[in-house]
Amino acid sequence: MSRAPWVAHFGLKRTPFSKSIDAKDLFSRQAHQEAVARITFCVVESALGVVTGDVGAGKTVSVRAAVAALDPARHQVIYIANPAFGTRGLYVTIVRALGAEPRYQRAELMAQATDLLAAEEAERHRRVVLICDEAHLLEPAQLEELRLLTNADMDSASAFAGILVGQPTLNRQLRMGVFAALDQRIATRFSIKPMDIGESAAYLRHHLVLAGREEPLFADDAIARLHRLSNGLPRMLNNAAIAALIAGAADGKDLVDDACAKKAVAELTQD
Ligand SMILES: Nc1ncnc2c1ncn2[C@@H]1O[C@H](COP(=O)(O)OP(=O)(O)OP(=O)(O)O)[C@@H](O)[C@H]1O
Ligand SMILES: [Mg+2]
Repeated sequence: MSRAPWVAHFGLKRTPFSKSIDAKDLFSRQAHQEAVARITFCVVESALGVVTGDVGAGKTVSVRAAVAALDPARHQVIYIANPAFGTRGLYVTIVRALGAEPRYQRAELMAQATDLLAAEEAERHRRVVLICDEAHLLEPAQLEELRLLTNADMDSASAFAGILVGQPTLNRQLRMGVFAALDQRIATRFSIKPMDIGESAAYLRHHLVLAGREEPLFADDAIARLHRLSNGLPRMLNNAAIAALIAGAADGKDLVDDACAKKAVAELTQD
């Protein structure tokens, strides 16, 4: 694959700060590790968990990292990238993922989903891990559907592990009185905080090493500026770093200095 001029300019072997980063290559900061540990706990205990964080904080990559570590022979992961599929959608997704044709009538469909979940564990010895991303978009009726699923088997044991992943408003939604029953079933919750400046510096270095550059490339004051611009949020920091690298290459610089960082800020904050 050919490299963009700015990638080649800095002697990088591949484009840094890529979205499609492999789970094994993720930067293992503490908040990331803790999120992965909680997700893994939910899987092992068949429990319900909530992971929240601001846009671009690293929620979905923590799910990817946790899922990559699971034994595929013993787990059936059902990943819902976006729950904007209305009522019934949750049950239909579960039923289809477990290899059946969804029944039409609502009560039957729910019973079918419940039975399939139970059978997966009891007969196929596979634990279902239901992950709902963008869970702050779940409608009240969908949260109620989820609650009914966790209710099956008269609470003796949950037939699946459930992870709700979403923006910080999700916690508020769940705390609303009507969902108290679901809220109480949540065994663990974790909020992925933004990176501090030390983590941002290490994060930038990590991505550059992945791209084949061992020596420092960003000056300290440039790092500080990019960190402030991004508020320590990884996706925003990716964008800021790329903008600063492009500015540096355009100006023929060997290092990304504060002037490059200022150009990145101007580019990313323009109206
Ligand atoms: N630990 C990490 N190591 C390397 N890159 C990371 C890490 N965390 C986040 N990133 C980068 O930041 C981007 C955004 O992360 P992610 O998609 O997980 O955010 P999110 O919290 O799910 O955001 P959204 O709310 O928009 O869904 C990723 O595509 C990746 O490039
Ligand atoms: Mg996400």
